[in-house]
Amino acid sequence: MARTRRSRPSASCSSGSVTEPDYVAVNRDSWTEANAQYTDKQAQDAWAQEEITWGKWSIPERELCVLPDVAGKEVVELGCGTAYFGAWLKRAGAARVVGVDVTPAQLETARRMNDQHGLALEFVAANAEETGLPGESFDLAFSEYGASIWCDPAKWIPEAARLLRDSGELVFMRGSTLQMLCMPDEGQVGERLVRSQKGLYKLEWYDDEPGVEFHPPTSGMLRILLENGFELLDYRELFAPEDAGDHEYYDTVPSEWAKRWPDEEIWRLRLHRR
Ligand SMILES: C[S@@+](CC[C@H](N)C(=O)[O-])C[C@H]1O[C@@H](n2cnc3c(N)ncnc32)[C@H](O)[C@@H]1O
Repeated sequence: MARTRRSRPSASCSSGSVTEPDYVAVNRDSWTEANAQYTDKQAQDAWAQEEITWGKWSIPERELCVLPDVAGKEVVELGCGTAYFGAWLKRAGAARVVGVDVTPAQLETARRMNDQHGLALEFVAANAEETGLPGESFDLAFSEYGASIWCDPAKWIPEAARLLRDSGELVFMRGSTLQMLCMPDEGQVGERLVRSQKGLYKLEWYDDEPGVEFHPPTSGMLRILLENGFELLDYRELFAPEDAGDHEYYDTVPSEWAKRWPDEEIWRLRLHRR
């Protein structure tokens, strides 16, 4: 199914009230719909996949070697969705994987897959900006297009730091800043800058799948990470492979575009408790 979207950019983020921010409910509704439409079906294939791959172009981890060794590690996945990445990390030797997600329908799929595959992942229904999990209880915090784009970095990065032990690592994937700058309000990414980088932070998509994403540019993201005690270990910009065709569902980025410009990025950081 094709996906187009229109945006209403906004420079500011929500207030830090203790009640759930409006965008959390908007995104939960959107992911409840997405679960009914496609993520539940995709979960079967993704959980069955042996190899760890990254992003919409399925780039193998064996080529990137960006993940730390997870053997014996306690992992929290923030915005786990159907939790296939958590499943891959558990198969790679993680001692414990806890998936946090705010959408009950996504967690239902994750629990069903977990029962089928017997991987003993644990799940928590919560906003990844405020998980309620005990502090300093994980070695790796992870997100692939979960909290990394749907949560306010001013909130989820401090929460990731709180959850990690000293020297714990944070690894996350999100779309590239260049992709966001070339993404029109409606339709596909093109070869022109159509969005200001100045003030880029919160993006509201309001088409048939309304959603609120957060995308501070690289320097803004790095500042938030440094302020929360993280040291940058690695940063990758990913391109589509030369033989890639357009993605079946995430059609806002044509494969030809992503063969020339990076449309996804991976960050790897280490926490230093002060
Ligand atoms: C694209 S999925 C990413 C997860 C996983 N990699 C996958 O593809 O299944 C995005 C997930 O983020 C979750 N999400 C959105 N906002 C969230 C929030 N505030 N807290 C926790 N999870 C959230 C959604 O419910 C959805 O399951």
